[in-house]
Amino acid sequence: MRALVTGGAGFIGANFVHWTRAHRPEVEIVVLDALTYAADGSSLGAVRDEVELIQGDIADSSLVDRLVKDVDQVFHFAAETHNDNSLTDPSPFVHTNVVGTFSLLEAVRRHDVRLHHVSTDEVYGDLELDDPERFTEATPYNPSSPYSATKAGSDLLVRAWVRSFGVAATISNCSNNYGPYQHVEKFIPRQITNVLDGIAPKLYGDGLNVRDWIHVDDHNAAVWTIAETGRSGETYLIGADGEQTNRDVVAAVLRELGKPEDAFELVRDRPGHDRRYAIDSSKLRTELGWTPTYPDFASGLKATVQWYQQNEDWWRPQKAATEAKYAKTQQ
Ligand code: NAD
Ligand code: TYD
Repeated sequence: MRALVTGGAGFIGANFVHWTRAHRPEVEIVVLDALTYAADGSSLGAVRDEVELIQGDIADSSLVDRLVKDVDQVFHFAAETHNDNSLTDPSPFVHTNVVGTFSLLEAVRRHDVRLHHVSTDEVYGDLELDDPERFTEATPYNPSSPYSATKAGSDLLVRAWVRSFGVAATISNCSNNYGPYQHVEKFIPRQITNVLDGIAPKLYGDGLNVRDWIHVDDHNAAVWTIAETGRSGETYLIGADGEQTNRDVVAAVLRELGKPEDAFELVRDRPGHDRRYAIDSSKLRTELGWTPTYPDFASGLKATVQWYQQNEDWWRPQKAATEAKYAKTQQ
């Protein structure tokens, strides 16, 4: 099999390439990535020479057409992904997430190539803290931010291309990922690297928002399961029962780094901040037999803290610029 991986130099995409080299060594991989601020070619590390890395925009339809023509499967990870950035400037989110996905859909339609579209549980909006329900595939879309709205738009484009044009595609909506190579703008890497730099972790609002954490390798194993055995046109939710308040995550990071658990700072809340995400992944588990292999968030987080301690060369170049961006919004 020859696969095109869009966004393969970003956090989840790079981990996907590592996972694929380790578990599906027969697959030839072509990575298409615009190498935005969020990408780092070095995230591909030892497998960099084993893949073809093409720098380009997924909205460039002639480039995309040329690449899609020669592959059997597209794994579509490329996106603008940070909610806070989408509140400052939504424009690249519309371009990449909506127009970029449209360009890929037209190419897979022309060349009859199967697509797996990687999306987020944020398309469903949020839940109250005490709501006994979790998101399922039947939950209505209700996105809150420009990021989640453009991801919702991209999911709906994929569904329409399946129904109207017979494109072969699967969709997954996953909860918050953690693990190596995640940009320091995101919650967990930001707090780990703050503590390493002697800065207090920054919690938005009251810090009681809940996210449902999953290790990036569990997400990527699920993506493979869905692409290989999922039914075309279907959506599968991916989650590992990892609900945690942001305060609890920060307390665990502080504990791990030998600091008092209350050594954090409450800062200005994110406008429109979703309160809680929670995934019911029964469909994926029952229909396709997937289960997470990192059931324990505490040990996965510990390994992630150690990874950032040991890989300062990787994150240091991004840190000052990221904090300067946050300083402008007092976060
Ligand atoms: P990321 O921001 O770390 O990486 C995104 C990658 O896409 C970068 O390498 C960037 O250069 C590339 N890219 C951006 N615009 C591009 C364009 N126009 N053309 C080509 N490449 C472009 O993001 P991530 O956290 O790895 O997320 C990957 C995917 O997973 C996204 O679709 C995201 O919505 C989805 N997702 C993420 C999470 C999470 O917790 N991070 C959870 C669920 C779903
Ligand atoms: P984030 O990693 O941006 O992911 P998402 O917004 O997609 O869930 O944020 C995760 C949670 O952490 C979210 O509730 C916002 C919060 N947060 C903070 O409290 N402080 C921070 O510095 C950041 C970046 C996020």
